[in-house]
Amino acid sequence: MGEGARLRIGVLASGRGSNFEAIVRSVESGSVPASVAVLVTDRPDVRALDIARQHRIEAVCVDRRDYPGREMHEKQVIAVLDERRVELVCLAGYMRILSESFVKHFEGRLLNIHPSLLPSFPGLHAQGQALRYGVKVAGATVHFVHEGVDAGPIVLQAVVPVSADDTEETLADRILDEEHRIYPEAIRLFARGQLYIEGRRVRIKESA
Ligand code: GRF
Repeated sequence: MGEGARLRIGVLASGRGSNFEAIVRSVESGSVPASVAVLVTDRPDVRALDIARQHRIEAVCVDRRDYPGREMHEKQVIAVLDERRVELVCLAGYMRILSESFVKHFEGRLLNIHPSLLPSFPGLHAQGQALRYGVKVAGATVHFVHEGVDAGPIVLQAVVPVSADDTEETLADRILDEEHRIYPEAIRLFARGQLYIEGRRVRIKESA
């Protein structure tokens, strides 16, 4: 498949960028038939930007402090993504709640990763929530983004055990390893046209 036919991905991140890095590596290794067209961050001094530079990926910071409100900020983010003809947007630790119009604009082509087995423990500090609740298994979820925080049809989930001596950090690390596996896998399925959304359910078509 030539470069022109590859799915063009845009990644939105706010921080460390380890999921962004996992996506980039899977694209570079050829296991995901796509190209990462752009990284967009909403903060200037985050590690995700360094990772983009290291991998020679265009990085754009749309600093939230430069915009009077969410609407103007989102308009600029959409402009950056559309100018690069991005076909799939991947949220990877993007710490902003998206408006209905943003979600509509990218409907069916907007993915997120969350460090819990949704619908359990949406929102911040999901790993701590799971630990405090006392669950015996935890995990990660890749889902299409619909309105609402950490809602939307589920593409893939991975389960990890919770051990008696886990701290929030050790559990988060174990979950993160799975995040780095299932996010590229979900993108690969999307890029190969194998995902179908039927109501709340995502069907995975066998590959040809
Ligand atoms: C991950 O745990 C992800 O599931 C959540 O935010 C964290 C981002 O980590 N949405 P990183 O920036 O990808 O390292």
